[in-house]
Parts: sequence; C-alpha cells; structure tokens
Amino acid sequence: MNYSGKLYVVKVGGNVVRAEKDILRVCRGINKLLQKDARVILVHGGGPLISEEMKKRGLEPVMIAGVRYTDKKALAVAEEVLREINSRIVNGFNSMENKAASVSAVTVPGYECTLCVKKQALKFYREGKAVEADPGLVGEVSDTDSAYLLNLIGKGLVPVIYPIGKDPSGVRLNVNADTMASGIAVGTRCSEMLAVTDVPGILADVSDPGSVIKSVTTEEAMELIRNGTVSGGMIPKVESCIRAVEAGVPAVRMISGKDMGYLKTLSSNGTLITR
Ligand SMILES: Nc1ncnc2c1ncn2[C@@H]1O[C@H](COP(=O)(O)OP(=O)(O)OP(=O)(O)O)[C@@H](O)[C@H]1O
Ligand SMILES: [Mg+2]
Repeated sequence: MNYSGKLYVVKVGGNVVRAEKDILRVCRGINKLLQKDARVILVHGGGPLISEEMKKRGLEPVMIAGVRYTDKKALAVAEEVLREINSRIVNGFNSMENKAASVSAVTVPGYECTLCVKKQALKFYREGKAVEADPGLVGEVSDTDSAYLLNLIGKGLVPVIYPIGKDPSGVRLNVNADTMASGIAVGTRCSEMLAVTDVPGILADVSDPGSVIKSVTTEEAMELIRNGTVSGGMIPKVESCIRAVEAGVPAVRMISGKDMGYLKTLSSNGTLITR
C-alpha cells in the first residue's frame, strides 16, 4: 500500500459512535477513504454517554459554552467512558470483512500523542456580552507528536484517539474532542479535517436541518458564534475549525454521521470552513 496520499484527521462525535451499527458505518466509511489512497487519523468524542454515566453515578453534568466543566470525578468518568467507546471502534475496524486496504486500528490516548495545557478561562457571549468562566480540568493541545502518529500510519494502522490529554507535569485533562482533533490536524499538517457530527453542518436555524450553511470563512464563522447562531457543542466545534484553518489546515468540512457515504464521493456536502 502507498502511504503517500492525503492525510485526513476525521473527528466523530459521541452520537455518531453510539450504537454498534453506527460504529460499523464509521469504520466502513473510513475504509472507503483509505481505498482512495488516503491516510487517516480518527479522533472521537463521547459527550452524550459521558453525561449519562455521570448522572447514573449521581454527578451533575455541567456544560459551559458547550464545554464540559470537569472536576476530578467528571474526568474519571470521561476517561472510563471514552476508553470503552475507543475499544469498540478499534474492534469495529479490526472485525471488518472489507480489509482491502489491509488496515487495522489501534488505540491511542490523547496524552500519548499530544501535550496539553489547561484552558485558563472560557470566554463566551451571554446576551451579547462577553463573559468568562473557569472550566476546571479542561485542556487544549499545545503540541502534537506527529512523528509518532505518522509512524503508526506507516505500519498500516489507523490511530483511534480519545481526547484525554496531559500537561507537562503529567496532570490529566479532559479535552473537547473537536479541540483535540484540530490540535492534531494542525500538528500533523493534514490535508483536511472532517468533523462528523449529529447535524448536517452549521445550520442558520438550529431547528431546521435544511438550513445548512454551505461554506464560511473563519471570519464569518466567528460572527456566527458572536451573534448566537451557533450555540452549545457547536461553539467549541466552530472555534476548533477556525483555529485549525488559521493555523494552516487548508479546509475543514463538517458533515452528518448519516452521510458517511461522503467519504466515498468526497462531494460538497455539509459546511466547508476555509480561510
Ligand atoms: N447553528 C447550529 N448548527 C448546528 N448545530 C448546532 C448549532 N447551534 C448549536 N448546535 C448544536 O451543536 C450540536 C453538535 O455539537 P455536540 O458537541 O453536541 O456534538 P459532537 O461534537 O458531534 O459530539 P461530541 O461532543 O460527543 O464529540 C448539535 O447537535 C446541535 O444541537
Ligand atoms: Mg462536541
């Protein structure tokens, strides 16, 4: 196999890798991409399942501007749930009948391939006013070990990364999966980042799935956060897309998990974010 093809960092949201059939759909989609002579790094989230598990254990999930407020207990639940999802994805890949690309997957915790720093304060807008809040043990990527990841790819493996990072002194940090993916996208100088989520792209009206905004510049995307068009989990997602593009990733595309066929056709579905 030729590993010189385009490098994609694909981020899949927690809702996209929940049911077993959805995981297999993701694996099949990525297999299609690999057959196009592409190289792939997969990063996954786990938002809904982490929240459910926290509630089961009597903990209250708190989201600040789409980012999970994380104390030690929430961090422990997040890592446990993410590891579980991760091994289901890796198993999904390794059980695929279609191994035409003879690629199998391998678990990579975020802290093995990145260095993170604690996010100091989240700045967001409430009723048009800028406010700040401390998200706790939440990190963002400061460095990526791209040689480590590219070496795994060179061995015919798909790195499947779950977004728990650590800071230089070894403190574990919960990292929003989009933030982890965009840090890795920048660090590996990938050709394109794909954000696969539970909506068909950035919607002009969040209650209307038909209102997909086909393409935005980083400046336009920033305005969508500022004016409240984008809210909840879409805030860190759009911020990550902006950061990736501004740091040199040529394009980020946001698509729906129901549209994994996209990986075969690479058509112009979803929302494209460019400079
Ligand atoms: N303008 C918007 N367009 C589309 N989605 C929006 C918008 N504003 C808010 N959202 C919300 O953002 C959500 C997607 O972000 P969310 O964090 O929930 O998922 P994810 O990032 O794919 O998964 P995970 O957080 O598990 O990695 C959508 O389900 C939608 O409810
Ligand atoms: Mg999210």
